[in-house]
Amino acid sequence: MTQHNRQVHLAAHFPGVNNTTIWSDPDSGSHIEFSSFEHLARTAERGFFDFFFLAEGLRLREHKGKIFDLDVAGRPNTLAVLSALAGVTDNIGLAGTLSTTYNEPFELARQLATLDHLSGGRAAWNVVTSPDAFTGENFRRGGYLEYADRYHRAEDFIHLSRRFWDADPSEIVEHISPFFEVGTRFPVPTPPQGHPVVLQAGDSDQGREFAAGSADVIFTRHGSLEEGTAFYRDVKRRLAAYGRGEDDLKIFPGVTVVLGDSEADARERAAEIHRQQVSGPGAIAFLEQVWGRDLTGYDPDGPLPTVEPDTDGASITRGRVRHVRDPRVVADHWRSLAQERNLSIRELVIEVSARTSFVGTHGAVAGQLSEFVQQRAADGFILVPSVTPGGLDEFVERVVPELQDRGVYRSDYPGITLRENLGLPPHRPAAQWARYRHTDSKVSALS
Ligand SMILES: Cc1cc2nc3c(=O)[nH]c(=O)nc-3n(C[C@H](O)[C@H](O)[C@H](O)COP(=O)(O)O)c2cc1C
Repeated sequence: MTQHNRQVHLAAHFPGVNNTTIWSDPDSGSHIEFSSFEHLARTAERGFFDFFFLAEGLRLREHKGKIFDLDVAGRPNTLAVLSALAGVTDNIGLAGTLSTTYNEPFELARQLATLDHLSGGRAAWNVVTSPDAFTGENFRRGGYLEYADRYHRAEDFIHLSRRFWDADPSEIVEHISPFFEVGTRFPVPTPPQGHPVVLQAGDSDQGREFAAGSADVIFTRHGSLEEGTAFYRDVKRRLAAYGRGEDDLKIFPGVTVVLGDSEADARERAAEIHRQQVSGPGAIAFLEQVWGRDLTGYDPDGPLPTVEPDTDGASITRGRVRHVRDPRVVADHWRSLAQERNLSIRELVIEVSARTSFVGTHGAVAGQLSEFVQQRAADGFILVPSVTPGGLDEFVERVVPELQDRGVYRSDYPGITLRENLGLPPHRPAAQWARYRHTDSKVSALS
């Protein structure tokens, strides 16, 4: 028993579209059928998780002009899935990833307020900008928003949504800005949480600032203890400028867990999972995203290409959430890493694409998770299982009790709403958030 007392929070990421899920596993189920969503949400609720999380991609990914189908393609509508889950769960939060670039505040605020009512105060919105022109074509708005303005629109979008949520039904909400021109009554009463919980996922300096000024939770990729503590410090120190305290914004890295009966067993299972997640053709496709050229002639079990990335052409992969800003730098870095450790293409891809993993016996993993929270590298974790939908069963059965025994995890939901369960302060009205808005934001799209 330790004397640690900072509490661990947990959330469940429905893995769906990506290569995290091992679709060849005989236990792998559908990523579309409702029973899959229900299974994962109920398992997480049995383990007193804060929320169930859905990512979103608005356009089918393409690679070299074809639908990318090395894992799975397509997914159902986020808000419809979460609304259905509200009917089969009681306590767990329901978080959906929804774009501020390709939605309108009135409509999205209305749907999120409805979800909050349907679920009794459990709605959460993962705000993403993802302003790529490829996705925009779905909305006849390809490339309409400058990359530099993605967070200006997002900030304005959230501000207006919060004004809608605060509004009395008789009140006309008027808002005229470079992005929106609205003057209307909001048809849904104020949500049970006041405002649904707002998550932010985006890693740039602007993204962090935006989170400090507008979000309740950050979903991050920074999962190592060292990176995690640096990220945590960086984001938390930004809060004071917005009149906020350290605990007003929670940090949740996305991580994977691999359990075994012994350390060696767990490590062997982790290695096997990585091999299954990164197939030979998958490794080549991964490399092609950076090289910007066809690499099918290369042996995945051989060395990295010596040919330089093609930096002139348009990206050959479209619709994926990945920003490779300087392919040559990335390629050089990967080549030296491969040389240093004697890695093949596939081994290199396993190395650079793996999420932070907690690997070990259930006791060891509980200890590692707690350590992250005690060291202030995270407030909680979004667990990304490698099998859909049963990938968290073992975690909930074996690791949750260990965390409870250590005194760092709850044995019941402490509140009714997601906001309460996360330990967030009561919602702050739009007018209060607005006091801290930057008024000097340059809006290049419309100037
Ligand atoms: C951990 C994480 C998860 C994300 N998940 C999604 C997603 O499911 N759908 C999406 O459209 N964008 C997603 N994004 C993309 C971001 O919202 C954002 O648009 C992109 O990272 C650009 O923001 P940035 O420049 O601040 O990094 C994710 C980003 C991060 C860091």
